[in-house]
Formats: sequence, structure tokens, C-alpha cells
Amino acid sequence: MITNEELTLEKYIKEKRKQTKDPICAYIYDLKQLRDHAAAIKNSLPSFCRLYYAAKANSDQPLLETLDPIVDGFEVASEGEINKLVAETEKPMIFGGPGKKDREIEAAIHSNVEYLNVESFHELNRINYIAKQKNVTVPILIRVNLSVNISDSHLRMSGVPSQFGIDEREVPSFIEAALDAEFVSIEGFHFHAMSNNLDAESHVRFVKVCIDKTKLWRKQFGLSGMIVDLGGGIGINYWNPEDPFDWEILASGITGLRTEAEDLTLIIEIGRYMTAACGSYVTEVLDIKKNHDQHFAVIRGGSHHLRLPAAWKMSHPFRVYSVEEWNYPFARPEVLKTDVTVAGELCTPNDVLVRKEYVDQLRAGDIVIFEYAGAYAWTISHHEFLSHPYPEIIYVNATEK
Ligand SMILES: Cc1ncc(COP(=O)(O)O)c(C=O)c1O
Repeated sequence: MITNEELTLEKYIKEKRKQTKDPICAYIYDLKQLRDHAAAIKNSLPSFCRLYYAAKANSDQPLLETLDPIVDGFEVASEGEINKLVAETEKPMIFGGPGKKDREIEAAIHSNVEYLNVESFHELNRINYIAKQKNVTVPILIRVNLSVNISDSHLRMSGVPSQFGIDEREVPSFIEAALDAEFVSIEGFHFHAMSNNLDAESHVRFVKVCIDKTKLWRKQFGLSGMIVDLGGGIGINYWNPEDPFDWEILASGITGLRTEAEDLTLIIEIGRYMTAACGSYVTEVLDIKKNHDQHFAVIRGGSHHLRLPAAWKMSHPFRVYSVEEWNYPFARPEVLKTDVTVAGELCTPNDVLVRKEYVDQLRAGDIVIFEYAGAYAWTISHHEFLSHPYPEIIYVNATEK
């Protein structure tokens, strides 16, 4: 459902109760929050830094449509994402990711993909071969796996052995190979290196390393212009949302690198930090029980809708919305002023969204609201496991007021 209205939970629950006896289970995306947040990010960046949205964080059409007028482009990682973006926008795309198929390279060449990230020597040969057959020159960014590890962030794609990019020590020979490849042109370097970094100062240091490395290789090989693609990796503090990533430090840090960036163009490809906060996963408590001295709340839904907390073995930030209505003629199960584990409806002990967190009160029939569920949430979940119905997906504040 897409609506131009604001939606209070109270109103939503009332409407649902009129329509069905089924428990509440929905994703609610606030598109005004997304619009305002994206515009604030864009306005904080200097003109030499372009803002792209990494569609993999959430490629739902209404989110892409909301972001399209604000961002400078999109980062895509498959032919499927290319097609979604082609249907939505004329803005440029950067196509990255390991394991590109020939048909995906062809799809990129035929759409408005402005740069292809190249991840290996074999991929370079394949892109050059396909480009030759089509008699076109394909602009590439060389994806680098840096030797240094800049942050302590949750997941690292760089500074550690990984399937991503070219080992920094091999970059000079890769540049030589790319210069010899007649149908590609080296337009810059791509450095996406981490996920969910919460330390803004270390991210500024990372940006400086990316600039320095690019300048070094540019000079060494007489390259001109140059894109420095910083990737994404800006974090959401799921553990303590009150203490978020300090965007201001990153934005002013990037602005302060103006002189060092010289005639370079920076690109930042933000996924999680862009869309996490606009989405909430809202579910009803089905049961409350005690097992081996621990309290459990079982909700409608679970990790097949919101896989992130199970994948990261963390408690997802949540709040309780109390519902007074209780229609059964017997006692309502509840917990009071204690720790509770919130589990889903799947037949696996891994289906846990909250691990032993304190609640004042939680009852069967109450609603649990999981915040920061707009990125890497529904999209990364195993929807078909146990064949439960999907959550309702609702987009509110669709147009600007
Ligand atoms: C190449 C690339 N760019 C950007 C992103 C977005 O990262 P994030 O969601 O951490 O901002 C990713 C995520 O995996 C990526 O692989």
C-alpha cells in the first residue's frame, strides 16, 4: 500500500482489527523521513563529492522513486538491480560486485551504467572481450582491496583476504593490464572496504587514504582526472541508537580534504545509512512464556522477515506499543519489569530478534516495533521458510507536502 497520509499506529491497528482477526505484521516505510534524510546528506556534501544510493540496501520501487530526485546516481550489483533502476531513473549507475556474468556486463553496456567496477584480472579480460565485440569502450573503476585496515567495523571487505577487488600489491600490474586492454578506459578506483562503521573519524582517515592512493597511481601511470569511489559502510548503531554515527564529522572531514582532492571526483555510495531509519517492522506478540527460567515473547513474523538480528546475533532496537484490547475470556500472558527474549514463529532456535532485553511490560496482543529496519532487512531475509504469509508493506508520506 502506498499512501500520501501520515499513519499513526493507533489508526493502523484500528483499521486492521476491522478488516481481519489475523495478527498485525507489517513493514512501514516513512518516505518523508527518507526524503528529508537524503536531502540533508546531499546538502552536507561538497560539490566534488557525488552522492549515490547503493540499491542493495533496499531496492523497493517507492524508495528508489523517493531518492531519485535527490541523489546523483545509484550503485547496482546485478542485472536485476540494473533493470529496476532503468525502469525508475535516468541517473547514472555504477555496477559492482564479484561474479559478474557476461550477460550482466552486456546489460551494463546497454544501460546507463557509467562505470563498471572491475574485481579481477579475468573480469578485466571478459569486459574487454565483450566491449571489443560491441566495438565500445567501457569506463572502469579498479576495485582495490587495500593492504591497510582502517576501521574496526563489523564486516570488512578490505585490509583482509576477501573475494573483493584487486590486492593493493597487485594494483600496479593491474593498471598495466588495463592500459593494454584496448576497449576499457581506467576512470578511477573503487575502495568499498567495510560495513557498519560507527567511527566517523576513522571514516575520514579512510577517505584520505583513498585519495592518497589514487593520486599515487595517477602520477605513477600518467592517468588523468580520476574518480575516487569510497563505497559505503556508514553505520547504524543498532546497539545504542542514541549514539549514532556522527555524519557531521564525516561531511566536514570530506569538505576539508578539498585541496588534497585536487581535480579528483569523490563518489560515496551509501546504503544502510540512507534507508535504515525510514523503515519499521511492526509485529504482534502471539505468546509469552517462561522456559528454563527465561522469558520469551513469540511474535507473528521473525527472522524470515527481518534476518539482520539473527545474522549478526544481536538484539534489534525495539519498542513496545501497548494494546489494551483483549478479546479472549481467559488470562492474558504477560511479563513485567524483566528481561525478555523476542523470538519469531519459525521452527528454529535461531529465529531470535531480541536477546534478553529489559521491558517494563509486554503482553500477548501488544505490538513490538523494530526500528531501523529499512535497510538489509526484508531484502536479505529467507521469506519462504515455513511458508508463513508475508508482512504487509506500507509506504506513507509518499508525496511532498
Ligand atoms: C560496492 C558497494 N558499495 C556500497 C555498498 C553499500 O554499503 P553500506 O550499505 O554499508 O553503505 C555496498 C554494500 O555491500 C557495496 O558492496
